[in-house]
Amino acid sequence: MANGGRRVKRNIALIPAAGVGERFGAGKPKQYVEIHGKTVLQHTLDIFAAHPQITLAAVVLAPDDHTFQSAETAGFQTAPAKTVLLHCGGASRAETVRNGVNTLLERGLAAPGDNILVHDAARCCLPQAALSRLIDQAGSHPNGGILAVPVADTLKRSGSDGLIETTVPRSGLWQAQTPQLFPAALLQRALAAPDLGAVTDEASAVEMLGVRPLLVQGDSRNLKLTLPQDEYIVRLLLAEK
Ligand code: C5P
Repeated sequence: MANGGRRVKRNIALIPAAGVGERFGAGKPKQYVEIHGKTVLQHTLDIFAAHPQITLAAVVLAPDDHTFQSAETAGFQTAPAKTVLLHCGGASRAETVRNGVNTLLERGLAAPGDNILVHDAARCCLPQAALSRLIDQAGSHPNGGILAVPVADTLKRSGSDGLIETTVPRSGLWQAQTPQLFPAALLQRALAAPDLGAVTDEASAVEMLGVRPLLVQGDSRNLKLTLPQDEYIVRLLLAEK
């Protein structure tokens, strides 16, 4: 879409869903756990389908994972957004995202200047307002940005003996959430690093380039289904929707 000779920047969601979710312990990947009649992955996709500024949602699955077959089941048939399934998941979350970004660019599904919003499949309660805030505040920023919440609890560093070593001042500390939004070319460059071992989110890869992404106020309801006890709260939050 041309606009005065310039291409309009698109917002494309990239959802890594190639993990096995061992800590959750459901006997199947947690994105396939059913809550209120829909899988966690479908709940997550519906959030992006319902958002008018998202043009495409790409789900990155493990190469041999054919559990999630059809976009129609995710409610995209009537929504403005489209979805694609990419079977190029890697051994770690960072590798999954790297493969997904490369595939989007190689197939022309994303242009280098488009924004990619990487979002955990397991964060299925992301409020629409938080997603809008991220796009509005970070969507035009060259460094991109992430949703995050200021740390609320007092932080302790433990010694190897299990006793408190020190109290860590929490001022200026944030807990990173997703989505994490970056121009596709920047994200591809950041994830091209040979060793992604220390990369637990996309922002940390971008930071390794010396680029400082924007912090955008997230939402405590945007929690990640990680441990079995998280399911109780996620059920309540999804019922409220
Ligand atoms: O396990 P964890 O909660 O940290 O995973 C976060 C997200 O990364 C999940 O959506 C999971 O499916 C995804 N992931 C992935 N490929 C891996 C490991 C995790 O897509 N190899």
